[in-house]
Amino acid sequence: MIKISPSVLASDFSKLGEEAVRMEKSGADYLHLDVMDGHFVPNISFGAPVIASIRNKTNLVFDVHLMISDPLKYVEDFAKAGADIITFHLESDSSADETIDKIHELGCKAGISIKPGTPPEAVYPYLLSVVMVFVFSVVSGFGGQSFLFFLMTKVNKIRDQIKMMGGEVDIQVDGGINEETAEVAARAGANVFVAGSAVFKAENAAEMIKKLREKAKV
Ligand code: DX5
Ligand code: ZN
Repeated sequence: MIKISPSVLASDFSKLGEEAVRMEKSGADYLHLDVMDGHFVPNISFGAPVIASIRNKTNLVFDVHLMISDPLKYVEDFAKAGADIITFHLESDSSADETIDKIHELGCKAGISIKPGTPPEAVYPYLLSVVMVFVFSVVSGFGGQSFLFFLMTKVNKIRDQIKMMGGEVDIQVDGGINEETAEVAARAGANVFVAGSAVFKAENAAEMIKKLREKAKV
């Protein structure tokens, strides 16, 4: 099932609640919330209190992307703030098994993400414990970058591995998603598409979300 997850990093932060409502009305499935600590990635965005402040504004699934060094230490804050899916990086300092267990204990769904330099095999041991594997299609930390086409081979390999293991795991691609790249990512095996600039900067967000969904139907 195709899911579109607009990334608020590209939104107007001065009216984040209204932007969340705008995305819901525009047909988004998820709201992608990029948490950056300025240490794991060279950028700082926002923390749990900001997410909590918009939780009761929208029914969108909160797709929280933790680009932080010690996710295990903070997952409880994000669960309490209203996260539905908490995705953390395999390259972080926390134990992946412990972090997945903690996310589940807190009643949230777990996603695992890998940076461009991490091989696809690294996530194979976790495929049956998470609902989503996240593959970066840009260098992490900033919106508005260009899509790195060569990274789609990773998506392909992970999709084949999931099929072989008989799992039902979503593959999320994040970074540089637009009408052209959504199709490329879908052909590689992705079904969840994070789009920041493409949606928030679009003349008509609903139209853009519809186009991305159409292009992803491969
Ligand atoms: C980058 C973030 C992405 C980013 C996507 O580190 O994880 O979610 O906001 O933004 P666009 O769609 O503009 O590349
Ligand atoms: Zn993200």
